[in-house]
Amino acid sequence: MSYRVAVVGATGNVGREMLAILDELQFPVSELHALASRKSQGLEVAFGDRTVKCQNLERFEFSQVDLVLMSAGGDVSREWAPKIAAAGALVIDNSSAFRMDPDVPLIVPEVNPHAIHEAKKRIIANPNCTTAALVVALKPLHDAARVTRAVVSTYQSVSGTGKAATDELWNQTKGLYGLNEVAPKAYPKQIAFNVLPQCGDFRDDGYTVEEAKMWDETHKMVDPGIRLTVTCVRVPVFVGHSLSVNLEFESPLDAEDARDVLREAPGVMVVDKHEDGGWISPIECVGEFATFVSRIRNDPTIENGLSLWVVSDNLRKGAALNAVQIAQLAHEEGVLTSRGYRTLAVG
Ligand SMILES: NC(=O)c1ccc[n+]([C@@H]2O[C@H](COP(=O)([O-])OP(=O)(O)OC[C@H]3O[C@@H](n4cnc5c(N)ncnc54)[C@H](OP(=O)(O)O)[C@@H]3O)[C@@H](O)[C@H]2O)c1
Repeated sequence: MSYRVAVVGATGNVGREMLAILDELQFPVSELHALASRKSQGLEVAFGDRTVKCQNLERFEFSQVDLVLMSAGGDVSREWAPKIAAAGALVIDNSSAFRMDPDVPLIVPEVNPHAIHEAKKRIIANPNCTTAALVVALKPLHDAARVTRAVVSTYQSVSGTGKAATDELWNQTKGLYGLNEVAPKAYPKQIAFNVLPQCGDFRDDGYTVEEAKMWDETHKMVDPGIRLTVTCVRVPVFVGHSLSVNLEFESPLDAEDARDVLREAPGVMVVDKHEDGGWISPIECVGEFATFVSRIRNDPTIENGLSLWVVSDNLRKGAALNAVQIAQLAHEEGVLTSRGYRTLAVG
């Protein structure tokens, strides 16, 4: 069985990766449509060794496709995902628009694959890029010894903000070497050679929207009982998000046991040697499918505590790879059919 697939946001950072991963994983595609805004109409994007011409989202007939992968921002998803689902396609959405909707499953296939059968609205949400990295490492440890509290600090790359921010880091870096100042636009302050303790807008409680996404989404996918506090930080890295994670458990789990649990966990690669460079940095995770875990240590300041370092490619596991894995799961579980989404019996 193969599927007629459309990628919305095909010219973007995530959309391009989606096209690459559909091809790399040999997802059964019978027809591929690349969609973006009107200004990109006719632009060519790569799909494996072929090129596909972009079409204008607004003029596309969605009843002719079975599956739509969306990554064009929350506003586009809010407007288009319900219309696309009504036209008969299954939508896998990368934006935050539907993640907390109780009728929209939020899925990381290694963590909560069973949720694939709960897509009442024919929409499935993909988590925030930092949450995806966190839960792939957290879930197996939670299953082993029950995480009661987590303290997370992130080191997030600029590609997580999109193309414009990626260009801004590049242009500011070049500008500073060439003594041509490039004013901040994508971020409130200069990102080149700097570290910004703000990802997303501020909320009334002093946390940022990005920080709240991490605990809300972790609660939805793993366990609402985990107490989670987060500080999200933007760093001048092009691709690859890193997380410093401190965990407190209900039952004892020492570093050696945690290493064994994580070595067996799906989607996790443990790289943890106590020697110079015996850990993974964001540059090394680019283009990789795995979520890497390094620096696994006992935390002697609390009972049953561990600290870890987690790194993943935010455009892949944090977005495009996870979306294609959800599509694969939908295919395997019979939720996706080549005639469109199979209507679930309710009640
Ligand atoms: N980057 C990450 O790590 C990451 C991770 C998880 C989720 N996401 C989510 O994925 C989405 C895209 O992120 P990105 O990093 O790929 O952004 P991006 O590089 O800025 O790309 C945005 C894409 O959306 C398209 N688009 C924007 N407005 C549109 C409109 N009105 N109609 C049709 N297409 C439109 C753009 O097309 P044009 O080129 O024609 O403007 C482009 O293809 C966002 O919702 C983001 O939150 C990103």
